[in-house]
Amino acid sequence: MDYYRDTWAEVDLDAIKWNVRQTIACLDASMTLFAAVKANAYGHGDVQVANAALEAGAEGLAVAFLDEALSLRKAGITAPILVLGASRPENAGIAAEHNISLTVHDNEWLKHVQIERDQTLRIHIKCDTGMGRLGVKTAAELQSVIDELNGSPSYLFEGVFTHFATADEIDTSYFEQQLSAFQLLVSSMSEKPPYIHCANSAASLRFQGGGFNTVRLGISMYGLTPSPEIQSILPFELKPSFSLRTKLVHVKRMNEGDKVSYGAAYRASEGEWIGTLPIGYADGWIRKLTGQEVLIDGKRVPIVGRICMDQCMIRLPYEYSVGTEVTLIGSQEGQVITMDEIAAKLETINYEIPCLITARVPRIYKEEGQVVHISNPLL
Ligand SMILES: Cc1ncc(COP(=O)(O)O)c(C=O)c1O
Repeated sequence: MDYYRDTWAEVDLDAIKWNVRQTIACLDASMTLFAAVKANAYGHGDVQVANAALEAGAEGLAVAFLDEALSLRKAGITAPILVLGASRPENAGIAAEHNISLTVHDNEWLKHVQIERDQTLRIHIKCDTGMGRLGVKTAAELQSVIDELNGSPSYLFEGVFTHFATADEIDTSYFEQQLSAFQLLVSSMSEKPPYIHCANSAASLRFQGGGFNTVRLGISMYGLTPSPEIQSILPFELKPSFSLRTKLVHVKRMNEGDKVSYGAAYRASEGEWIGTLPIGYADGWIRKLTGQEVLIDGKRVPIVGRICMDQCMIRLPYEYSVGTEVTLIGSQEGQVITMDEIAAKLETINYEIPCLITARVPRIYKEEGQVVHISNPLL
């Protein structure tokens, strides 16, 4: 696999493994960790991240949709995979065939399951303790799903879980409310499945996974804080794994009043140096990032003019040669532009940023500083 453009994302697999190992070290020795690799591993690349997480000690993987789980199986991954979101009950047979665990969020779903007689479907029951998204709310609803599962040899009742809405906030009151609701639901069960889980990254790192035996680690595995407000209270320093880099493809000296980009909205002054970068909004480097700084030669310089579909322009302090590397996210010569800085500029959360970087940007995977794999879905 190769790539022929001068824009790429670098994913540091050692950082991912380090974040997973550090998290496991913070948890009780009997606990297991599922790595959340949904959404193409938050834009980092599902297969590579999944393998790194498993190597670092993750027991299984969590994705949002059955398609994502099947794509991991197609890549040869045999570890347990849980689909967290809603799947079509008529697709249960495909999940069973590939040994993929599905989530049941109400009793009605089980009535429509289509599965062969000799197949076994692994099931986790989702409880809604206050996220208001998916799941059974009461002990009675939970019991009726369990009764249905027990009534058929086609099911293997493997897990029960919930999801927190505010585990990344300093104020823990709503988190505690959800945790006690889940504790009550779990204690109402006469028979407990092997996996009981509620914790995302924030709850894994701050509250030992809420005291249950499994956690689902997403954002912090990628080296990103679940929220800026809890960064300083995390038990170890996360290692960011994603960098976004490009190179100057054109450099020019402007005359007084020369314009840059669509709308001719940026006006250069005499002698200003402008560099062109081969990255634009079709790569996920969206127009709202005009004005955002990038790193060249370890210095911060601004993006000027409107960001185009495939290119954008930066103001240089002086002439640089074509081919000079530019960092949009990540570190360069001791300077850093964090995912949180980009998220703040876009008035969103860090989760959204790597997910925004489209498949047109090849992902280059590194271990011990060496490129170990290149993923470019275009070729
Ligand atoms: C159900 C569920 N579990 C776990 C996670 C992982 O959360 P985080 O990325 O905050 O660790 C997510 C992510 O959104 C999720 O939806």
